Amino acid sequence: MARKLAAGNWKMNGTAASLAEIESLAQAHPNPGCDVLICPPATLLSRLAGATSGSSIKAGGQDCHTAASGAHTGDIAADMIADAGGSHVIVGHSERRADHGETDADISAKAEAVWRAGLTAVICVGETLAEREAGETIAIVAGQLAGSIPEGATGENTVIAYEPVWAIGTGKVPTLEEIGAVHADIRARLKARFAAAGDDMSILYGGSVKPTNADEIFGVADVDGALVGGASLKAEDFGGIIAALERA
Ligand code: PGA
Repeated sequence: MARKLAAGNWKMNGTAASLAEIESLAQAHPNPGCDVLICPPATLLSRLAGATSGSSIKAGGQDCHTAASGAHTGDIAADMIADAGGSHVIVGHSERRADHGETDADISAKAEAVWRAGLTAVICVGETLAEREAGETIAIVAGQLAGSIPEGATGENTVIAYEPVWAIGTGKVPTLEEIGAVHADIRARLKARFAAAGDDMSILYGGSVKPTNADEIFGVADVDGALVGGASLKAEDFGGIIAALERA
């Protein structure tokens, strides 16, 4: 069985003052009925992990390098994320694919680096608006899954996040039928490739998830949680999404 996970991606947002949001989130949800993860900017990871250490809220990174160490100015190794108190690393977010030209092969190598550090990789996939309008959604997502997930993926070391690029930060959300069709296809492909482990991997939906639409999205089969950008920045909003996942 896949675990339920509410994951927040702060992207390039947040300073020390933002830690107050985490403290109120931890106070409001001391024993959440689902896994809760926040991926702040790297500058805050260690302090956020410290602020949540007495709670069940986990901390994670938004990206990592494929190598364990070396001459890679500005990059961060998965071991460093582990050392800072992280448990997960997001890899292959569409903003990394677009802004940094990351390929499926890069993302697969990053996921392996995450595993070598003993952490869980949150591997992101999703189609652009042009690809959806061309009827290519399933083919695009299938290709990204095939290329971005290394051999050896399990429910422990891997979470999949389906994030239609056109739904990220736009307030636009696919219909529940559209979400269900993609998640069912992802589940079938994970099972075909990884057998029983394919049932254990959580499949998150991401893209304009809010407290107001979370209940209906979490009601869709094979949606095991959400990867949340904008609405993860405020404790009240993210708390509403956690509460919806607890109810699901
Ligand atoms: P959003 O971002 O919730 O702001 O749409 C989701 C994401 O990019 O992970």
